[in-house]
Amino acid sequence: MAAALPREKQLPDNREIVILESVSRAPGRTAVQIDVLTLFPQMFEGPMGLSMMWKAQERGLLHLRLHDLRNWGEGRRRQVVDTPCGGGGGMILRADVLVRAIEEVRSDSTQPVILLTPQGRVFNQQVAGELAQEERLLLVCGHYEGVDERVRQLAISDEISIGDYVLTGGELAAMVVIDATVRQLPGVLGADDAAARDSHADGLLEGPHYTRPTDFRGLQVPELLLSGDHGRISTWRRRQSLLRTMQRRPDLFAAAHPGDEELDWLARHRADGQLPDT
Ligand SMILES: C[S@@+](CC[C@H](N)C(=O)[O-])C[C@H]1O[C@@H](n2cnc3c(N)ncnc32)[C@H](O)[C@@H]1O
Repeated sequence: MAAALPREKQLPDNREIVILESVSRAPGRTAVQIDVLTLFPQMFEGPMGLSMMWKAQERGLLHLRLHDLRNWGEGRRRQVVDTPCGGGGGMILRADVLVRAIEEVRSDSTQPVILLTPQGRVFNQQVAGELAQEERLLLVCGHYEGVDERVRQLAISDEISIGDYVLTGGELAAMVVIDATVRQLPGVLGADDAAARDSHADGLLEGPHYTRPTDFRGLQVPELLLSGDHGRISTWRRRQSLLRTMQRRPDLFAAAHPGDEELDWLARHRADGQLPDT
């Protein structure tokens, strides 16, 4: 069950609901403010209220503000969608509602406004790194058939897709973007360089991990990892990372520029029949 969120606040003008807000800002750390416009703010409660995303907020590194789009809805029923012009099924998020919401939530014209859409540039670790440089982001989640084209024209500065498939709404995509971006901020993960060791941080996949028990169903932890020799362990990890990338993602390996010694080592292992001839 999702943890109960510790803070919930309704602003006096009744137009903005802040469900999660950080408690204090850690001195000397870079913090990011992320505003999200969504029809379903409740969807964020579990993923953003637990684990590292919650810690990031507790440490004052992430100020997450969830805004319910219905607060900008039209009329008694707070209408936010309408039928598509020209016919066809589904509902479209209205331009007047969305643009007004964006303009009211956005702190100034320098805050990037990102629409989550399967038609955007494809998100990856590098894009997450770019977003982690920003102090403020505004993420706009579409739903149903999507958003009126004029929202893109008038109020969107970037469009991001999390992959070549179609989700029901932009909420899951926004959470993927927030998680991958925020974990790159110094101080969010325990050790400051932990994110730098992850797969894709330097263009390679990370090598295998082990923990106790050292013998499990006849499979042993490599002896070197128990030796305490940090120099040799570091070389082993780098080689395993190259090996794994070569085996699983030859497209990434091609851009990795391994050294001559590393290429020799890989060639020897390929000759041993340990690697497919990619
Ligand atoms: C059902 S989709 C609409 C898809 C739209 N009719 C199209 O073909 O481009 C509803 C919303 O989910 C979000 N969405 C769906 N797939 C996504 C993806 N791969 N990446 C980011 N957002 C996505 C977008 O916000 C989109 O407006």
